[in-house]
Amino acid sequence: YVRVAVLTSGGDAPGMNGAIRAATRTAFVRDWEVLGVPDGYRGLLEGRFRRLTDRTMGGILHRGGTILGTAREPQLLTEEGQRQGLAALKRAGVEGLVVIGGGGSLKGALALAKLGVPTVGVPATIDNDVPFTDMSIGVDTALNTALEAIDRIKDTASSHRRAHVVEVMGRNCGYLALACALAAGAEAVLLPEHEPHPEDLLGALASSYERGKPHFIVVAAEGSGLPARKFHEYVNAAEDTFESRLTILGHVQRGGSPTAYDRLLGSRLGAAALRALAEGEPGIMVGVSGRRLERFPLEDVAAGKKHLDEDTYDLALTLAGMHRRRG
Ligand code: F6P
Repeated sequence: YVRVAVLTSGGDAPGMNGAIRAATRTAFVRDWEVLGVPDGYRGLLEGRFRRLTDRTMGGILHRGGTILGTAREPQLLTEEGQRQGLAALKRAGVEGLVVIGGGGSLKGALALAKLGVPTVGVPATIDNDVPFTDMSIGVDTALNTALEAIDRIKDTASSHRRAHVVEVMGRNCGYLALACALAAGAEAVLLPEHEPHPEDLLGALASSYERGKPHFIVVAAEGSGLPARKFHEYVNAAEDTFESRLTILGHVQRGGSPTAYDRLLGSRLGAAALRALAEGEPGIMVGVSGRRLERFPLEDVAAGKKHLDEDTYDLALTLAGMHRRRG
């Protein structure tokens, strides 16, 4: 038989369990053995493995987080760490590895692939900043969680006639903020990808106030050049306009039961990763392009960058009644 290992790494993302389950059960169909690595690369460096059984895969699909545990382990990006990881895999007799995680974790997967470990990556991060794949596991759930929170905030904003600045996660990527702003019908969005002009935003805010709008919702990406807190303070310092409140949604966006979309995506990508190992095509990441699953070289993924969809940004501005500043 063949023995493979599965690990989740970096920030957890709802739907990771679906990917673990699908990879594991797809391996079982081939009579392969699967070892789970607890706590991501940290567990790997410490040589910790635990055998996954059909029983351990039961009842996990609807659960948020990752049953394997995860960690942010920079050691694997060093040569010494990679040697240690390789030795641990050899000692355990592992012949293939599935790495489920975001950009940093996939760089680690590439490093191990280069050392000769047949490795396949599965994109999972709520930030949606992994290039090539349209979506990563966890994005849809985080988006829906943030959206529900913003809808609630809108109720109280309208009741008090206030501005609310809501900060969402995403690291240096504005995807989550932009999608939230569009779906929530926010009046403004602050993104890392676009240099914000506070004076334009304050102008829009003042004119909304004069026109009698009941609220002004601003969705701010945590990586925005104009931080949420700063803009909130500008608003409160301005006269004759909305009073502002600030909400930082934080880790609430990372938890919770995965949406149907993330359960399906996790299941499809987990199984696809195992198939890629079985077909002898490691060194790739499985991802989704439109409705199709595709394989992308880990080398390209590690070197690439995900770009914001400018049409979607334009749409968000148009629907918010703002126009894009030219030049
Ligand atoms: O990468 C996922 C993410 O939730 C980012 O959006 C955020 O910046 C970061 O992780 C927070 O990391 P931690 O949970 O280590 O504080």
